[in-house]
Amino acid sequence: MMSYGDPDKWGGWILPQDQAEPIVRKAADGGDTFFDRLPPRRQRGDHRHRPRTPRRMKDKRMRHDHHHTSARPQVAVRTAVEDDERALALIDHATWSFEASPAPLWPLETPFFDDRTAPENVLVAHENERIVGYIKLRPAPMAASSGHVQEVNGFAVAPAHQGRGIGHLLLNAARQEAVIRGTRRITLRVLGTNTRAQALYLAHGYRVEGRLKDQFLLQGRYVDDVLMALELPAPA
Ligand SMILES: CC(C)(COP(=O)(O)OP(=O)(O)OC[C@H]1O[C@@H](n2cnc3c(N)ncnc32)[C@H](O)[C@@H]1OP(=O)(O)O)[C@@H](O)C(=O)NCCC(=O)NCCS
Repeated sequence: MMSYGDPDKWGGWILPQDQAEPIVRKAADGGDTFFDRLPPRRQRGDHRHRPRTPRRMKDKRMRHDHHHTSARPQVAVRTAVEDDERALALIDHATWSFEASPAPLWPLETPFFDDRTAPENVLVAHENERIVGYIKLRPAPMAASSGHVQEVNGFAVAPAHQGRGIGHLLLNAARQEAVIRGTRRITLRVLGTNTRAQALYLAHGYRVEGRLKDQFLLQGRYVDDVLMALELPAPA
């Protein structure tokens, strides 16, 4: 049985999967658009399903609320379209570091979409039509024998929007999209030094399945390539 992590640990931003409110709407071009809303703010006196919250987490939640009380983000997730390319390239560029990627920083003009990354392989988080983050979810190579596997091979939130729960939202959306695609496993690779991203994946039920030790030499330091995967239940 896989674990989705503890939603209370996420600061209360995202509902557990079975309580979330996924909405599928028709996009302007007629295609399906995937939405996954942040949960509504709890009403005073509404304690239903409220888990006991450790003091440390209450403090953390209050910090989140402090920053966002006046403008609760209306962040939604949809499938990317060609026109998103520039915004995605900008986020990719702005979030590059040798902690996020073993590749040297690429020119800003480098196309975001390519042979293996079509718009339908990208889910974008947007707020008031402005793209604030994305996650790439694409079929694993060798589809003939790996058709049951999808891989996350790009995941970033614009620096000004990090720490708002958008990473959680995108991982939930990717999981739901993978289920729609009949996926049994989602795999990814993350640098050993990227502890923040690893913690986020672990909270969403991903497990470390392997480690290529000292796979990269980055800024004079050897860094592991960590292989993680999420097992999804077999379709009923
Ligand atoms: C990894 C990334 C996508 C997470 O996105 P995000 O929107 O900031 O994530 P969330 O707001 O959902 O927060 C995820 C966790 O990180 C924590 N966090 C947020 N900002 C943080 C910061 N500046 N430092 C440390 N932790 C932070 C949050 O508190 C949360 O932890 P919690 O669940 O215990 O509360 C984002 O940090 C990013 O774009 N990083 C650069 C690119 C990258 O590393 N991608 C992954 C490649 S494998």
